[in-house]
Amino acid sequence: MFDYSPAPEAKLASFASSYGHFIGGKFTKPQKTFETINPATEEVLSQISHGSAKDVDLAVKAARNAYEKTWSKLSGAQRGKYLFRIARIMQERARELAVAETLNNGKPIKETRDFDVPTSVAWFFYYAGWADKLDYAGMGASPKAHGVAGQVIPWNFPLMMLAWKVAPALAAGNTVVLKPAETTPLTALLFAEICQQAELPDGVVNIVTGFGDTGAAVVGHKDVNKVAFTGSTEVGKIIARQVAGTNKKVTLELGGKAANIVFDDAPIDQAIEGVVNGIFFNQGHVCCAGSRLLVQESIHDEFIKKLKRRMETLRLGDPMDKNTDVGAINSKAQLQKIKGLVAKGVKEGGDLWQPACKIPRNGFWYAPAIIDGVSPANTVAREEIFGPVLSVITFRTPTEAITKANNTEYGLSAGIWTEKGSKMLKLADQLNAGVIWSNTFNQFDPTSPFGGFKESGYGREGGRAGLAAYLKGGN
Ligand code: NAI
Ligand code: MG
Repeated sequence: MFDYSPAPEAKLASFASSYGHFIGGKFTKPQKTFETINPATEEVLSQISHGSAKDVDLAVKAARNAYEKTWSKLSGAQRGKYLFRIARIMQERARELAVAETLNNGKPIKETRDFDVPTSVAWFFYYAGWADKLDYAGMGASPKAHGVAGQVIPWNFPLMMLAWKVAPALAAGNTVVLKPAETTPLTALLFAEICQQAELPDGVVNIVTGFGDTGAAVVGHKDVNKVAFTGSTEVGKIIARQVAGTNKKVTLELGGKAANIVFDDAPIDQAIEGVVNGIFFNQGHVCCAGSRLLVQESIHDEFIKKLKRRMETLRLGDPMDKNTDVGAINSKAQLQKIKGLVAKGVKEGGDLWQPACKIPRNGFWYAPAIIDGVSPANTVAREEIFGPVLSVITFRTPTEAITKANNTEYGLSAGIWTEKGSKMLKLADQLNAGVIWSNTFNQFDPTSPFGGFKESGYGREGGRAGLAAYLKGGN
């Protein structure tokens, strides 16, 4: 294989040596800082402030003040104007945002450039369009915002999760306190600069960085009216308990263990691409990842042979290289979690295979993996690994496929690969999952609602349903 030179984008993002919180339109003085690193090199990128309950309280007060005095007094068209402005500035700064996201998250530049940033921008454009049409959204005349929204997001799509949360909240007329994940705060802090650049009124968006305790302070603050969380099912349950008995509205987007079901009549090469995209996109750090391959027994051997051949061509390495397919694992802790679960899966009878690839010396890496011969009771068939690991399960009949696909605590997404439209529709009806793709996978659009059943959480993001979550009487 050839070696590639670093992409010219490498120098396009620069960070301050330290950051405070973004409260009331201004950055506070950095305090109680911790390092944020590039997980591909372990190089320190900046020092980030660990927000206390007091910082969160100041942010909520700023958000309340902005809600009462400014944001709730603007017309929908005026709010829309700010959202359009933010979207356009994000487009102008797209290269910088893509580079920053790749440096702080470890995901390949081709993904941040072609997916994360454009999708985030699309979310702002879409909800900008809703801001002056709330009266016609089918939620009654002049539906009202909840007030202050407290939002806690994960590290797998840092900017995109921010966009999914902030855009509908502002369009509906709420103000926001957002807590980014501890390992990936940098694009949220660049977004704070973008809010300043767009002259968004002070306090409409507030960003408090920190760890789980900071997130808990946001969720638990008595003056937060609406809570939106994306992350682990474990923390989702803590939050559900924390807000129980309060007036707070909650949406939870949690984990997944999606089945990607391949029938013997599927277009095989296309299905291989879909399965690869389904689990190796973003190193498998995807809540809706197709982490369980359900392949029809009659084509199992041929499919796995082709899949392995395709996996041998995946390039793992420098995320800033435009040809990289598999970047770095986001953190040491996540890498250890992946290794632990895979070891368990092998001990419980799974057959592990990984292509030979050169693992960089520094940073956190995991070669793409498949575990064949997985029984439905195996840990790797049940637990979310959140890494580039595909568990392979076989089935004989469509009924067996449905039973196995639904045999999970989760219910976020699923994939069906078949040439037959009737089979596709019948199966889609029987799968307990919020999002079902057929002959494709991992497609996202701001107009399309996204969310789960069971332990994958409740509430929807995207589309009119995603708007409803931020309006009284909406859900
Ligand atoms: P996590 O759920 O702990 O973190 C997500 C966000 O919640 C972060 O911003 C974190 O600071 C915050 N948080 C943590 N504890 C909190 C609390 N008690 N109250 C309020 N906010 C809190 O996820 P973590 O620890 O990063 O990853 C663990 C596992 O969770 C992963 O291995 C993966 O399986 C799963 N996960 C799933 C995600 C999804 O999108 N479905 C996203 C991230 C993780
Ligand atoms: Mg955690």
